[in-house]
Amino acid sequence: MEQLEHHDAQPPGSALRRWPNYEAAAIGLREYWYPVMPSRKLGRKKMSAARIAGRELCLLRENGKIYVLENQCPHRGIPLSMGSREFPGHVACIYHGWVFDVTDGELKHALPDGPDSPIRGTLCVRTFPAEERLGMIWVWTGDGDPVPLDDDLPEEFLDPAADIFWRQSDSPGNWRYAVENGFDESHGKVLHRNSWWLFFNRMSAWNDTEITRSEDGKWLRRYQRKIVVQADYPGLGQWPRFNFFQRRRKTVQQGSNSHAVDVRLPATLRVRQPGNANWTHYEWYVPIDDSHYRYTQVAVAWATGFQRLMWRLRYWTYILWVHHYGFNNQDLMVVPLQNPLKAENLFRPDVSVTAWRRFADREHRRPSPETKAQNTEAAE
Ligand code: FES
Ligand SMILES: [Fe+2]
Repeated sequence: MEQLEHHDAQPPGSALRRWPNYEAAAIGLREYWYPVMPSRKLGRKKMSAARIAGRELCLLRENGKIYVLENQCPHRGIPLSMGSREFPGHVACIYHGWVFDVTDGELKHALPDGPDSPIRGTLCVRTFPAEERLGMIWVWTGDGDPVPLDDDLPEEFLDPAADIFWRQSDSPGNWRYAVENGFDESHGKVLHRNSWWLFFNRMSAWNDTEITRSEDGKWLRRYQRKIVVQADYPGLGQWPRFNFFQRRRKTVQQGSNSHAVDVRLPATLRVRQPGNANWTHYEWYVPIDDSHYRYTQVAVAWATGFQRLMWRLRYWTYILWVHHYGFNNQDLMVVPLQNPLKAENLFRPDVSVTAWRRFADREHRRPSPETKAQNTEAAE
């Protein structure tokens, strides 16, 4: 189990100093696939712009395939996503008509300089590997060679019975604090206590939590060694107080993992719903830049036929409103307010936060220096 140093004196500088790689990753860990936008949002003709992990991206669809170019014309810096698609397989910049091949980003023509323009073939815009899967457009933002997309997907997404709802919104705050909030062990007991989602539930007072690892090593997991539903706080009295209509539970439970919360790289949370709920909630905190992230909520059930229909009905009439809006909006509110550089004194439940930081710091994917040098040189 992760050891905590209590009331660490804060030296000047960053509270994240013990995790230098994590501290340095303010705009995101780049050697990963990220869910950038739902497939339905990218039409056949219009291009879209996105900033992901500090990369400016121009996304387009050509003959049913997704292409992603750096969204900056090398002539005078205008976003290529504003350009035209008048030549199949090419993007023409809106400003002076430089024309780029979408497959490799090569400058094929510079229209106002004539068909024999000497600048033809001398420049490229960078391209990024992209794939369309599971109703989502995924982009590799790394400098190294891309791993197969499946490596960055929870493997249960590949089950053909998986029925997936995606919802994305751009939010203020740094992606790291969004992950930390997602995996944070104790805030649910306070911040979410009065949410409609938990209206009929008795949230516990405190838990004794251990951070463990999934068998394949990909996920960090919160395991509750003990759950204490209500406790007596000297000088304050009993906390929490419950309403009669809230589901009764044993006051102390040992070793429960019914509401399991897991986190994995690059910035992905999994919350398995307790009991017979039969669905799982996921979140990706897709970094945009150092102070914004694309909050990606995912609801998945494994169902076919009539069951699938019922699941969809349940999502649209209930889960979307009460969980994805009501409950998760409480998280959106606190993430931009966090600033460990300003104040951070950790307590026992923050073992979840520090275990994640250490995991991300040490185990994030990185390209070999040679591959990185080769690929960045080719991109320039
Ligand atoms: S800025 Fe793109 S062609 Fe001039
Ligand atoms: Fe939360």
